[in-house]
Amino acid sequence: MSTATPTAASNVTKFVRVPTCILKTLDQTCVDLFLQHDPKEPHVLYRDAGYPLSQDRAQGLVETCDEALFVRASDYANFSKDLANSLEKSLEDESLAPTERYEVLQFAVSLEIEQSMRMVNSDSYVANTKTLGKQISSLLNEGEVLPKDLYQIVRHDFHTFVHVTNVAGYATLLAKELGISDPSELERISVGGLLHDIGKRYIPPSILTKTGALTTKEWGIIREHPLNGYKDLCHRESINHGQLMMTYQHHEHLNGNGYPVGVASDEIHPWAKMLAVVDVFDALTGDRPYRTPATAEEAIQFIESKAGTQFDKEMVQCWASAMQQ
Ligand SMILES: [Fe+2]
Repeated sequence: MSTATPTAASNVTKFVRVPTCILKTLDQTCVDLFLQHDPKEPHVLYRDAGYPLSQDRAQGLVETCDEALFVRASDYANFSKDLANSLEKSLEDESLAPTERYEVLQFAVSLEIEQSMRMVNSDSYVANTKTLGKQISSLLNEGEVLPKDLYQIVRHDFHTFVHVTNVAGYATLLAKELGISDPSELERISVGGLLHDIGKRYIPPSILTKTGALTTKEWGIIREHPLNGYKDLCHRESINHGQLMMTYQHHEHLNGNGYPVGVASDEIHPWAKMLAVVDVFDALTGDRPYRTPATAEEAIQFIESKAGTQFDKEMVQCWASAMQQ
C-alpha cells in the first residue's frame, strides 16, 4: 500500500507520462504510479501497484490532482494492458466528460499502435486499426469533441504511433465538417488515418529520429513510404479504395509537385486531400527533436498559404474555420 509520505524515485529510473484523467477510469493498476510537480524535481511515488484508486475517487483526490502522472518506462507494457482492459467501460462512463473519454481513448489507441507497429508482420496492426478506428469515429461522431478540443488533447510528440492516432481523429472531424455523416464512412476514414503511414515501418529509426538534415539518400528512403504502404495494404479485402489512396496519395500536391507519383487535382482522391491537410497540421504542431512545435494558429497560417497549390482550398478553409469554433 502507498504511504502518506511520498517516496522519491531513483534518478536513473526512466518514466513515461500518462494522462492524469486516466486515474478516473481505473479501479486499480498493476503498476506503481508517480507524480511530478515540476520537471526539475524528482518523480515521487503516488500509489503502489494494486492500490484501490476508487478510494482516491471517494476522497476527491483524483479530481484535485493537478500534477503530471507517470509510470516507469519498464512498466509501460503492463500499464497498457490495464488500460486496454478498462477501455470499454471508460468509453461508456457518463461521469467522464467527452473530452476526458477521448483523452483516455487517444492514449490507449497510441499504445496499441505502438505495440503492433513493432511487429514484423503488419497483419495485427491492420486488424487492430479496425477496432480502434471504430472507437475513435463513434466517440467523435457524438459531436461533443471539437477540433480545437482535440488539439488540446492529443500528444504533441514526433513518434509515428502518436502522429497516426492524432491524424485519425483530426481526419474524422474534418470529414464531419465537410458533411460526411455516414458512421461507416467516418469509421473507414478513422481507420485510414491510423494506417496512412504504415509504410514508415520500413524506414530505419535512425532516419525517422534523425535530428540533423537528411541526406539525399535518406530523403529518398522517406519518400518511399506511401508506395510501401500501398504495397502492404492493396491486397487486403478489408481496405477500400479511399483508404488505400489515403496511404498512397497523402503526400501528393494539388499542383502535381508532390510524391510518390506527382498526380494533380482530380487525380487525388478526396480522402487523401483531406488527410494531407490534417497530416501537415499535426506534423507542424508536433514536437520534433530539432525544432519547437508550431502553434495551431501558425500551422493554420502555413496551410492557408498553400491552399490551391499544395492543398485543396475548400478543405483548408473548412479546417481553419473548424479550429476557430
Ligand atoms: Fe506520411
